[in-house]
Amino acid sequence: MTENTNKSMSNSDIKIGLPAVAFKEFLNNRRTVVISDHNLFRLYPDVFDGCDKIILPSGEDAKSLKTIEVIISEFVKLNLDRNSFIIGFGGGVICDITGFVASIFMRGLSFGFIASTLLAQIDAAIGGKNGVNFGNHKNYIGCFNNPEFVICDPILLKTLSDQEYKSGLGEVLKYALITNKTELFNYLNQNTESLLNRNQDILKFVINKCVKTKSDIVSVDLFDKGFRQILNFGHSFGHCIEKIENIPHGMAVVYGMKIALQISVKKGVLNPDRQNEILMLFAKFGFNQEIIMRDEHFKILEGDKKKNLDLIKLVIINDIGKTAFLELKIDEIKDLLK
Ligand code: GLY
Repeated sequence: MTENTNKSMSNSDIKIGLPAVAFKEFLNNRRTVVISDHNLFRLYPDVFDGCDKIILPSGEDAKSLKTIEVIISEFVKLNLDRNSFIIGFGGGVICDITGFVASIFMRGLSFGFIASTLLAQIDAAIGGKNGVNFGNHKNYIGCFNNPEFVICDPILLKTLSDQEYKSGLGEVLKYALITNKTELFNYLNQNTESLLNRNQDILKFVINKCVKTKSDIVSVDLFDKGFRQILNFGHSFGHCIEKIENIPHGMAVVYGMKIALQISVKKGVLNPDRQNEILMLFAKFGFNQEIIMRDEHFKILEGDKKKNLDLIKLVIINDIGKTAFLELKIDEIKDLLK
């Protein structure tokens, strides 16, 4: 498989289809520490020979300041200096932690990512957001800083659990709806089976499209002041669903998008036939369930309110690839969803 390079304005070299082991090309003799979890080091035992390794527990709970302290203690023990290089090998959690700790240790070391999940390859590892949670507050502590490189090797996705893979597909579906053409939407319709079977060439095409879309959005609004928020399509409701139903992020985003579509239709901006076409694509990918917002979901959504204004900022769509922002009070949202 040949590799594609997507050199975004963010200055990260994004390598799609490059084998993970090729990270060595980027090291230039720098002392290198790889941060990952047990499972990945066990699955890929020899890839990082010659590098120091730091093993983290898997899961969202690791995204804490406590973990940052543990890693910094390891860095100190290893005697790292400002020329040392840090690699995050893993999904979104590992990339978020690695980017943050590398950015603050000794005022910043260079770092790179080898993204091991579909979700990380198309979203979490792209765009320069790094950070950890603070108690229940997601990503409250962090920074914007880009890795030198991101390697997105679809072969790594063969060992992903079905749930994790499906979670990544949820974010792929989001890109298909926010990209300003129907190309990805049609491609997903035509190649559903192959994508579900993790066909490597199809995956490479899809990852490339999603990375290009995200890079283009981030290049307009790196610091997330406005336009970048279209990436949050489905996320306001998705976050509530993820927490209450305890399902993986990307899957919750699909159910969140269904609710945002419903609001788009009720507001009269999205044609119901288009909504049906979209719901049919979701169903082809196995997302045929519907989750109705209940009081417990709305309680979490209320936490998203803009300070003082009582408004929730939602992303809706007028058509495939045509996003818009809508600010509504909680009661207005409840009325629209009746
Ligand atoms: N995952 C959303 C963003 O990077 O802005």
